[in-house]
Amino acid sequence: SSGASCEFAQLAGAVDADGLRTQIDELATFSDTPAPSVTRILYTENDISARTYIKDSMKSAGLTVREDAIGNIFGRWQGTEETSVVGTGSHVDAIPYAGKYDGVVGVLGAIEAIRALRKVGFTPRRSLEVIMFTSEEPTRFGFGCLGSRAMAGSRNIYEILEGAMDKDNISFTEAARTAGYLKEGEDLKSVAVTNETYSGFVELHIEQGPTLENEGIAIGIITAIAAPASLKVDFKGDGGHAGAVLMPFRNDAGLAAAELAVAVEQHVLASGSIDTVGTTGVMQIHPGAVNSIPREAHLEIDVRDIDEDRRDMVVEKIHQSAKDISNRRNVELQSFDVVNQDPPAQSGATIVEAATSASDELGFKSKHMISRAYHDSLFMSRITPTGMIFIPCHKGYSHRPDEYSSMEDIVRGVQVLALTLAKLSHK
Ligand code: GLV
Ligand code: MN
Ligand code: MN
Ligand code: MN
Repeated sequence: SSGASCEFAQLAGAVDADGLRTQIDELATFSDTPAPSVTRILYTENDISARTYIKDSMKSAGLTVREDAIGNIFGRWQGTEETSVVGTGSHVDAIPYAGKYDGVVGVLGAIEAIRALRKVGFTPRRSLEVIMFTSEEPTRFGFGCLGSRAMAGSRNIYEILEGAMDKDNISFTEAARTAGYLKEGEDLKSVAVTNETYSGFVELHIEQGPTLENEGIAIGIITAIAAPASLKVDFKGDGGHAGAVLMPFRNDAGLAAAELAVAVEQHVLASGSIDTVGTTGVMQIHPGAVNSIPREAHLEIDVRDIDEDRRDMVVEKIHQSAKDISNRRNVELQSFDVVNQDPPAQSGATIVEAATSASDELGFKSKHMISRAYHDSLFMSRITPTGMIFIPCHKGYSHRPDEYSSMEDIVRGVQVLALTLAKLSHK
């Protein structure tokens, strides 16, 4: 059958906005911080509760649920043909004091898209698979997209995870076991999937920027994802008494850190492009007492660009500044670690095409755009043609408690996702 074309006239009415709203609200209650904020950190009790919620939701949508060793959750709607699968999904972990839509819309929305496709009598040729990825956010172990990186078999990821510790010195392995994953005898490498597994992947996500809302456009179709890098830097000085050590005899690690944070901004601004961004999001000094000269300083720096070479040049300049500051201030540069330095991703033409025509056929205005935030799609694009569907979010607010997308916008996104999946399933 033409499959994708016969039933979609009814798709608009098939998405259950109230049901989806209820699920988004219920999932938001699994949080380490009070509403309206949402904090859900990898392998904690609330993360585990959220996982159970997602598995139940998948099951009630008639999906066959399975989990891998790292805790990626897969819900499959078996197609009529044994061939490569169409994937969709996102994450439900949330950084400290985040909102309830980032990631969640792409998981619960995907399950709702499946329900809607069932309602309109759709029959998948290729199987459709909803994926909830483990830890898209970097909160607990310092780098993000653990589940999708591991699926894509990204170089070194398995060794890095085996050596990773959180801030309380709990190892990745121990944390995973606590949550029921990475069981005795299970190997992280088993998470990798072959390039033949998926025929395509599409992720629905809130924009996390203001463009769609400002321009009154319902749907953004992502053509590329900017390249993220993150750095960890440690300075060490001698510290000492804030009254007794005279200025010429100090080597203040806190000032070295402050200077480096300013240098990050300078190097980013000097790149010549508005697309280069840099953030020193973590700056800690030790011992952190008013009458003590900072003896240690720890920084975490995020640098991104759509141009990988330009991003790498900024990273190199930051490294050079760290060495210069260390020499000039006689502060030891204890470590300068590039935690991740990922290439950008280009969307697959087949996915962009399917999402664009889905949007057109449903009568929604869409535009092609890039994603400045990273997503699991950055890694899925390494193993299959990948694309993303963005919906507006209020003022572009994200990673904050007042993040908001209207149900109308979410439902439009779910409809476009459903039709895109239908098309790809019959391709
Ligand atoms: C993802 O959360 C990002 O930091 O872009
Ligand atoms: Mn996020
Ligand atoms: Mn996200
Ligand atoms: Mn994220």
